[in-house]
Amino acid sequence: MSAVYNGSQQQQVYLQHHKNRNEVARRRWKILARALQKTSDIDTTPMNVDDIISVRRFTTFNLVTSKPLTLNNSSRDTAASWFEYSATISQDTYSLNIRHPTRSFTAAELMGFNNTGNICVWPSEEVLAYYILCNLKYFSGKTVLELGGGMTCLAGLMVAKYTAAANIHVTDGNISAIDNVQFIVKHNGLENRMTCSVLQWGDIQNRPIDKHISAYDIILSADCLFFDEARQDLIETIWALLNEGGTALVMAPRRGRTYEKFAEEAKMRGFHCKSKQYYNEHVWNRHLKLKQNCDYDENIHYPMLLRLRKTYGENSHDS
Ligand SMILES: C[S@@+](CC[C@H](N)C(=O)[O-])C[C@H]1O[C@@H](n2cnc3c(N)ncnc32)[C@H](O)[C@@H]1O
Repeated sequence: MSAVYNGSQQQQVYLQHHKNRNEVARRRWKILARALQKTSDIDTTPMNVDDIISVRRFTTFNLVTSKPLTLNNSSRDTAASWFEYSATISQDTYSLNIRHPTRSFTAAELMGFNNTGNICVWPSEEVLAYYILCNLKYFSGKTVLELGGGMTCLAGLMVAKYTAAANIHVTDGNISAIDNVQFIVKHNGLENRMTCSVLQWGDIQNRPIDKHISAYDIILSADCLFFDEARQDLIETIWALLNEGGTALVMAPRRGRTYEKFAEEAKMRGFHCKSKQYYNEHVWNRHLKLKQNCDYDENIHYPMLLRLRKTYGENSHDS
């Protein structure tokens, strides 16, 4: 039931709402300024979820490694650096050429739509990409959508290059991230395999979305659960875009209670939820080794795997 306010209470609520928005914007600015300046002397003591995401001392599980690429003159890219990302599983090596924009952001861009996906490829995206490479057959014949894929949409790109998925569409809410993904898709010759577009989760109920977007068998998402203000929108977006009988593979660290809150709210929405800490032997072994490293904090770095299934007529439960 919604609350009823008188005129002065309404004004109070309005002012509080704006204060909260300004506070969120201020914190984002701080995080981005820190990340983009790449300073090493910053105070990284985690204070709250927004501050926690600025802790970038631990950057990779080294499951997907990267090395700089030198492009020939005709394909020189002055606004970016290119890297070969590769992963080896059993005897097989999988690789993609990935673009990292080098341009700096304007103040308007930094204060605009969420830029966390333009900072780096976060470890959850790396682990999700690796998990996909270990389970290629799972994607055969399936339609696949990535949400909040950031500036590389690495997981969705691996699906496009290495699986027999029927149709792949990758998205993020940030236009600069998607501009970058467009370059990557073209450079890797994947234009006929996949599409990409801007998709903001809050938009799904309010306006018609991109012509490429329909309902999907599999939805992927990495490290997108810690935005308190967007959690419900993400759940609704997954609900709207997942086929009946489809599965969303959501990877994210616990980050305080944010993972748990997402799982609880998804369950309330009607999803059948299954949360796993152990889902891949190799990832788990890396995690155990990393626990001896003082820069590694399981709570903010180790991605949990949440499977959301949309099945009618079944009770949802965790296991
Ligand atoms: C921490 S980043 C993760 C990016 C990428 N998945 C990774 O792990 O490297 C979170 C991503 O969620 C996207 N995002 C945040 N709020 C969003 C919204 N309301 N709609 C769509 N995307 C959103 C951001 O643009 C960003 O790319």
